[in-house]
Amino acid sequence: MEDTVTEAVRKQYEAYSYPPPIEDAEKFLKQWGPLTCDPRFAGIQLWPEGRPRQDLRILCAGCGSSQAALIALNNPDCSVVGIDLSEASLAQSNRLRERHSLGNLELRQMSLLDVGQLNRSFDLIVSTGVLHHLPDPDAGLKALADVLDVRGSMAIMLYGTAGRAGVYLVQDILRRLGAGPNAEGVRIARELLKAVPSYHYLVSTNGKLPNDLTDDVGDAGLVDMLLHPQDRAYSVPEIMAFVETAGLIFSGWNDNALYCADRYLSGEMLERILALPAAEQWAVMDNLAVLTSRHDFFVRKPESARFLIRFDTDDFLAYVPLVRAGTRLAGVANALILTRAASHGEVVTPISRSEALLLERADANKSISEILSDAVFVPFEPEQRTKFARAVCERMWRSGHLLFGRRNA
Ligand SMILES: C[S@@+](CC[C@H](N)C(=O)[O-])C[C@H]1O[C@@H](n2cnc3c(N)ncnc32)[C@H](O)[C@@H]1O
Repeated sequence: MEDTVTEAVRKQYEAYSYPPPIEDAEKFLKQWGPLTCDPRFAGIQLWPEGRPRQDLRILCAGCGSSQAALIALNNPDCSVVGIDLSEASLAQSNRLRERHSLGNLELRQMSLLDVGQLNRSFDLIVSTGVLHHLPDPDAGLKALADVLDVRGSMAIMLYGTAGRAGVYLVQDILRRLGAGPNAEGVRIARELLKAVPSYHYLVSTNGKLPNDLTDDVGDAGLVDMLLHPQDRAYSVPEIMAFVETAGLIFSGWNDNALYCADRYLSGEMLERILALPAAEQWAVMDNLAVLTSRHDFFVRKPESARFLIRFDTDDFLAYVPLVRAGTRLAGVANALILTRAASHGEVVTPISRSEALLLERADANKSISEILSDAVFVPFEPEQRTKFARAVCERMWRSGHLLFGRRNA
C-alpha cells in the first residue's frame, strides 16, 4: 500500500462498507430511480452536444458496494469498470454482478491513483464521495483526467464546507476523545450524539440528525461521517481551483437550484448578485444558504469547452430545452409557478403566462428558435423574441428547471 493514510482509509471501508450494501439492484432502481450520475439520467448534462457513443466505456472510481453494479444494470449497452480499495465493498458489488448476470461489469481492487495501469480510456468517469478521502485529492483528479477520453465527461461529488460545519465540529470532539473507526468509536459517537443540542450545526433544518447517523441504517454511515481517518470538504472557489489544477473545465452542477440566487433573493440583492460572474454567484449562494453538504458536478477536458451551455451569445437559439424530470407547472392563487422537489426543499419559480407558453413547447426536440417561430410568438419583433427567450431560458437554467442540449455540435 502506498501510504499510511490510504491504508487507514482502506481498512475503514473493509470493516464498514459504504454505502450500506443492497440486496437487489433491480428493486433498488425501481424504488429510487437511477443514480443522478447515471448516463441514462444525466446524459444531456454530461454531453449537451449528444452522447459520444451508445456503448459508453464507464469507469466508476471508488465504486463502493453498489454504484458500479447499479450503473451496469441500468446501461446494458455500456461496459463498466468498478475500482475500489476495499475488498469487502467489491465483494458486495460482485454479489450484485452475479445476482443480475452483469456481464458488462468488471471489478478490480486498486487505488484510483493507479488507474493508468489499466491502459484504457473512458467516455464517462464517475467518482462520487471518493476524492475528498485521498491524502492528495489533486493527484487523484489528475490520475482520472489522464484516462478520460477527449470527448468524455466526469461526474464528481465532493463534500461541501458550509453544509458540513457541524460534522467537522463533532469529528473534532471525537478525535480528542480518541474515538476511531471501530466498534468502541461507534459506541462513543452514539453516546456523544445524545448530548448534541437541537441548535447544533449537525442537526438538519428539519430538526433531525442526518439519516446516516440514525441507528436503523447500521454503523457504516456514522463511521463514514464522523469517524473517518481522512476527509476534507470544499467551498465553491476551492472546487473551481481543484478542477483547474487538474487541467479540466467545470461543466456544470448536477442541480443548479442549490446555487440559484433567484431562489433566495429578490430586489437589489438579487440584481447585485446576478451581475457577478457565474462562479462568484454560486460561491455567494453556497455561503448564504449554508445547506450544501455535497457538491455534485461535471467536469470535462478543455477541448469540450465549446459545448458548455451559455447565454451570452445568440448561439443559445440553437439549444434544445428539456424540462427536468420532476418539474411541473402549477397555478397558485391566480399566478403560475414551476415547482420541483430538490434536496433542500421545493424549488418554486414564479413565471409569467408568456414564459409558460415557451416552456409548454419545450418537448426535447424543438430548438429555441423553432419554438419562437410558433404562431404565438410571431407577432413580436425577432429582437424582442430573442431577448425574451434569453431571459426565460437563463432564469430557468439557473433554477435547474430547464436543461439544454446543443444542435449540430
Ligand atoms: C463513501 S464511499 C462512496 C462509494 C460510491 N462512490 C458511492 O457513491 O456510492 C468511498 C469509496 O471510495 C473508496 N476509496 C477511497 N479511496 C480510494 C482510492 N484511493 N482508490 C480507490 N477507491 C478508493 C473506498 O474504499 C470507498 O468504497
